Amino acid sequence: MSPPPYRVVPLDVAAHDRSGFTSTSAPLDRYLREQVTQDIRRRVAACFVALTHEQHIAGYYTLASASLLLADLPPATAKKLPRYPTVPAVRMGRLAVDQAHTGQGLGGALLADALHRAARSEIAAYALMVDAKDKAAVEFYRHHGFIGLPDVARTLFLPLASVR
Ligand SMILES: CC(C)(COP(=O)(O)OP(=O)(O)OC[C@H]1O[C@@H](n2cnc3c(N)ncnc32)[C@H](O)[C@@H]1OP(=O)(O)O)[C@@H](O)C(=O)NCCC(=O)NCCS
Repeated sequence: MSPPPYRVVPLDVAAHDRSGFTSTSAPLDRYLREQVTQDIRRRVAACFVALTHEQHIAGYYTLASASLLLADLPPATAKKLPRYPTVPAVRMGRLAVDQAHTGQGLGGALLADALHRAARSEIAAYALMVDAKDKAAVEFYRHHGFIGLPDVARTLFLPLASVR
């Protein structure tokens, strides 16, 4: 049996080479190169990378604590939750796959990794949420079962209870 093609691990800013990462989104490439180190140091984001056997970064995503306004959730969902103004969530702030690795299931695998990481945390969160950067990203998340907030364009969520 061949080993899995990628290994998802926390970004090691000293060991992993971020300079060559090229997705279709220049801002997401720049973020990985120039900003993520500072965000990790300040504890405003955690970053996880998919590494190839050669230790190249094939994709990455970030996670951080967040909250959803109860009033923004679809009424059928909100009705089943406690009457607090907000519900806890985990935000996947960024997700990108290097162009050499797209279309092979890595984006979906990174999303699954993020969902499982959030779902098995000891700190409770109701959902994984995303702010999709464009219409294609919205479609990508819908394809994976995410639900859009009725009145907040491009913000989607997936309840973590359904992941476990
Ligand atoms: C979006 C992105 C992460 C997808 O990565 P990928 O590795 O090519 O995606 P996958 O190969 O894992 O695709 C997984 C599934 O999603 C589907 N999919 C991919 N892009 C899609 C889109 N824009 N709309 C609908 N479905 C999409 C694929 O058809 C595939 O379906 P299947 O599992 O039923 O076969 C990648 O194209 C990327 O980095 N884009 C630029 C950054 C970006 O848009 N990030 C998104 C969030 S801000």
